Amino acid sequence: MNDKQLESILHEERLFPPAAAFSSEARIDESRLAALHAEAEADHEAYWARMARELLTWDKDFTVTLDESEAPNYRWFTDGELNVSRQCLDVHLDERGDKTAIIFEGEGGDKRRLSYRELTADVCRFANAMKARGIEAGDRVVIYMPMVPEAVVAMQACARIGAIHSVVFGGFSANSLRDRIQDAGAKMVITADGGHRGGQIVELKEATDRAVEQGCDTIETVIVLRRADSGCQMQDGRDIWWADAIAGQSNQCAAVPLNAEHPLFLLYTSGSTGKPKGIQHSSAGYLLHAKLTNLWVFDLHEDDVFWCTADVGWITGHTYVAYGPLAAGATIVMYEGAPTYPDAGRFWSICQRHGVTIFYTAPTAIRALMKFGDEVPAQYDLSKLRLLGTVGEPINPEAWIWYHEVIGEERCPIVDTWWQTETGGIMISPLPGAMATKPGSCTRALPGIAVDIVDEAGDSVTEPNAGGYLVIRKPWPSMLRTIWGDNDRYIETYWERFQNRFYVAGDSTHRDADGYFWIMGRIDDVLNVSGHRLGTMEVESALVAHPSVVEAAVVGRPHEVKGEALFAYVVPRGDRPTGEAMEALTRELRNWVGEELGAIAKPDDIRFADNLPKTRSGKIMRRLLRAIARGEEITQDTSTLENPAILDQLSGKA
Ligand code: PRX
Repeated sequence: MNDKQLESILHEERLFPPAAAFSSEARIDESRLAALHAEAEADHEAYWARMARELLTWDKDFTVTLDESEAPNYRWFTDGELNVSRQCLDVHLDERGDKTAIIFEGEGGDKRRLSYRELTADVCRFANAMKARGIEAGDRVVIYMPMVPEAVVAMQACARIGAIHSVVFGGFSANSLRDRIQDAGAKMVITADGGHRGGQIVELKEATDRAVEQGCDTIETVIVLRRADSGCQMQDGRDIWWADAIAGQSNQCAAVPLNAEHPLFLLYTSGSTGKPKGIQHSSAGYLLHAKLTNLWVFDLHEDDVFWCTADVGWITGHTYVAYGPLAAGATIVMYEGAPTYPDAGRFWSICQRHGVTIFYTAPTAIRALMKFGDEVPAQYDLSKLRLLGTVGEPINPEAWIWYHEVIGEERCPIVDTWWQTETGGIMISPLPGAMATKPGSCTRALPGIAVDIVDEAGDSVTEPNAGGYLVIRKPWPSMLRTIWGDNDRYIETYWERFQNRFYVAGDSTHRDADGYFWIMGRIDDVLNVSGHRLGTMEVESALVAHPSVVEAAVVGRPHEVKGEALFAYVVPRGDRPTGEAMEALTRELRNWVGEELGAIAKPDDIRFADNLPKTRSGKIMRRLLRAIARGEEITQDTSTLENPAILDQLSGKA
C-alpha cells in the first residue's frame, strides 16, 4: 500500500449500513450475528461441533471436536468420516439435481451449462478414469488447467476417491510446475492442450512436457483435455486424452467415506524463502468453513447466481469456486479468459447475460476496470447484482466507492473479505445484512474466529488505531494442517514467533474505535502483486540463476493497478551495461524470470548497480532499496556504505 492510500484509509470515516430490504431477507441479521458470537465465545468447540453437524452430512459422526494433543498441529473432528465430493454433489441430487451447477463461458464465447446431475456424472466418470490409471486415496495429482469446468471436475474427482490434488495456476511456468510436482511426489498431471487468455493460447501441455522431462520420475500418467487444438505432442504410454480416458467409464463411482483429517489438497504459496510451501488442507474442517462462509458472507440464497472470478489455481478458486458454492448447492459462473477480452466490458457483459447476483473479485481487477471509465459498465444491465465482494489485498477507498456506486449502483453491500491460503476460508468480513461497512476495512472477524492484534511482546493491542501483528488466538476448522513434507517450517513460519501461543498471519493491522480491522500489509518479504503473493526471495533466486547476474535484491513499490510491483536491483557479471546493452539485458532477465517462475513474477523495473548496499554484517539494506524504488528521499543512515556512489547508481542517476 502506498502512503497516499494509507493516508486516505486512515481518514476514512464513511459508514454504509445495509438497506433494510437487504437485511430483512438476509440469512444472518444483526441479532442472529450477536447470538452466534455469544455462542462461539461461550464455548468455541461446542459452537464448531454444532456447525459441523448442521452443515455437513457425516458418514460417521465424530466424538472428538478438537484434538490439541499435537499442537500447534491441530486436528478437527478427528474420528468422523465423510466424503467432500458427496457433500458437494450427491447430497443435492434429490432436491436440486436439475439445477444448474456451473454456467461456463469460454474466452471465445463458447458456453455450457452443467446441472448438478450432469456434473456428478462427469465427476464419477473421471474418478473412474483416474482409478483405472492406478490413482488411489492419498496419491498426489497435479492439476494444471485453464478455467474450464473440467478443472472443477478433476478436483472433485480427486476428492471423491481421496487423491490429494495440487492445482498449479496455469500462469506458472514449466519450472514452477516441475518444482511443485517434485515436492508433492505426484503420480499424475491433469492438463489441457491449451487455454485461452487475452486472445492467446496458453500452451499448458507443452509446459507440462518440459516440466516432466526435468526429473519428475514419479509421474506415470498425463491426462490431456482437448481445449485449444494446439496440436500438442502426446507421449505413448504416458499421455492420454481426457475423452479417451473417460470413454466407457461408468457414471457411477462410490464416494468413499474418508477420515475428516484426510488431506484434501495441497496448494503451493510463496513465503519468505526461495521455495514455495505446500499448504496442506484437511477434508471436513476445510469444507465446513467453505460452505458456511459461502452461505453467510455471500448471503447465498437458492436462486442466486454466484460468480467468483478467481482462477482455480489460487485458494479463492478452491474455496469459492470448486468447493464452497457447490457444497451450498449454488449456481456458479466460470469464465475462462481475461477480464478485458475482447474489451473492458467483458465482466459486465457476463454479469448481464447470466444474471449474476453475487460478484466476487480482487481490488486489482476493480482498479484495472475502473480506468476504462464509467461509460463501460453503464452499457450493461447490472440490475440483478445484489452483493459485491473483494479479496486478496487492501482495497483503496476510491476503488471501493467506484465499485459501490458504478457497479453496485449504490444498492449492493460490499464484503471486503480478509483471509489467506493458510486460513482456508474467509476470516474477517462483514456479514452483509448484519453490519455497516466502511470503505477499506474488512470490518470484523466471523463468529468462532478469534482474531486479535498483538505487539512485539505478544500482548494484545487494545488501544484504537494502534497497529500490530494480526494473530488468531484459537484454532479453527479450516486452518492449514501443516506444510507438506516440512512440519518444522510450518511451526517456524506460523507459530514460533510467539512461542506457539497463536497463529501469526504475517500481516500487520490495526483496529479502529468501532473494532473494525484495517489491514496494513505483509510484515515479511512477501509482496502482493495483483492480489497474488510473491516472495521476493523466489524472484531473487530466479535472477541469480541467470549467468549474467551476480547478485540481486527485489523489493516492492506501489503500483496504481497491481497494488504492488516488483523492483529488482541487479549486480551484473562484468561491467554494468548501458544503453542498448542494458535494455537487452533487462528484457532478457524479465523473460528469464517469466520462464523460471511465470509471467506474474516478471519485475516491472530492473536497475543495474556495481554492488548492493549492505550493513556491516553483510545484510542487504532493503529499507533503503525500498525507499529508492518508491522515489522517496533517503533518510536512513548511509554512512556505513562501502561505496556511497552506489546510491546514484541505485537511483538511476549514474
Ligand atoms: O496480506 C493479506 C492479503 O493477501 C494475503 C493472503 O494471500 P493469499 O494466501 O494469496 O490469499 C489471497 C486470497 C485469500 C494476506 O496475508 N489479503 C487477502 N485478503 C485481503 C488482504 N489484504 C487486505 N484486505 C483483504 N481483504
